[in-house]
Amino acid sequence: MTTTAPSPATGAARTGPVLSVRDLTVSFAGPDDTVHAVDGVSYDLAPGEVLAVVGESGCGKSVTSMAVMGLLPPTARIGGSITLDGQELVGADERTWRPLRGRRLSMIFQEPMTSLNPVLTVGRQIAEVLIRHQKLSKKEARARAVELLDLVGIPAPDRRVDEYPHQLSGGMRQRVMIAIAVACDPAVLIADEPTTALDVTVQAGILDVLKNLRDRLGTAIVLITHDLGVVAETADRVLVMYAGRPVEQAPVDELFAAPSHPYTRGLLGAVLRPGSRTKDGRARLNEIPGLVPDLRSRPDACTFAPRCAFAEDDCRGGRPQLRTLAGGHRIACHHPVTPQPEEEVSA
Ligand SMILES: Nc1ncnc2c1ncn2[C@@H]1O[C@H](COP(=O)(O)OP(=O)(O)O)[C@@H](O)[C@H]1O
Ligand SMILES: [Mg+2]
Repeated sequence: MTTTAPSPATGAARTGPVLSVRDLTVSFAGPDDTVHAVDGVSYDLAPGEVLAVVGESGCGKSVTSMAVMGLLPPTARIGGSITLDGQELVGADERTWRPLRGRRLSMIFQEPMTSLNPVLTVGRQIAEVLIRHQKLSKKEARARAVELLDLVGIPAPDRRVDEYPHQLSGGMRQRVMIAIAVACDPAVLIADEPTTALDVTVQAGILDVLKNLRDRLGTAIVLITHDLGVVAETADRVLVMYAGRPVEQAPVDELFAAPSHPYTRGLLGAVLRPGSRTKDGRARLNEIPGLVPDLRSRPDACTFAPRCAFAEDDCRGGRPQLRTLAGGHRIACHHPVTPQPEEEVSA
């Protein structure tokens, strides 16, 4: 279907994407009904590219990422395609996944304390990954752990390597999680709200670490965040999701300069209006009146229509397909707010 074939990313056109997601669907079947958590997400990620995924809570950002990591529970039904270096991962068995997860594909989560083992030193936890996946000796792994702690900006790494998680601050623990995630030099790192639990100065440091990894190792990063300040500062491209569906996708400058979907404009409202930052200086997603729809229905309509100030009859009577506007801008909306000359959609 030509209308859902994403155009190549700016970087991807040059080098070829390392990760391609096509028309991804994820649903969870319960005894009485089915939750359609992800419904038609597509993106390409080039080496060294940072893709931000934004949208209100419950819109399918984490489920999309868990699908890419092969970490969905067995109750999940998954459709579409996910390819890493051209290898299909949808439907892949554990034998295919094992050498990829934690090596080619890595993920960091919001709350580092729950992911670290409290009874092992951080050095030991990093070393374990290296011993298991890269067959390093204990001594080599320890030396590499110190290097990795240094890479993620932990001061005095040769001392810190022997400390336990509780001896480190929240920001330092998140850096350790990043060190573990990048220990095997992954091609793709997924960061699911990695700075949400941290205060604003610590958050800036973590984002610097991610950008540094991208620059030094060429890691491609999917950054899930609620924080549009983070998006503006860190991302190359942005994917906006609403109720499991992609609604707008554009290079970051383009998205901030010409947000076209009414939902995106709603999210950006907080940033575009002066004085809208919270006390700690973050630019948060705007509160849009109304509620995120129930994901148990899968209407042939725009799911944002009930909350949209621009909605007309056709929005309630047909699902808008993703189409490509100028400048690599993609949008699924019957009535974009800033219409641009439409381009041929490349298959
Ligand atoms: N294991 C599961 N079983 C059933 N529903 C789930 C499961 N995991 C997530 N969901 C649902 O999928 C939807 C998307 O969740 P999620 O991807 O976590 O949202 P977010 O955008 O906040 O990361 C939510 O409605 C959530 O309740
Ligand atoms: Mg989430």
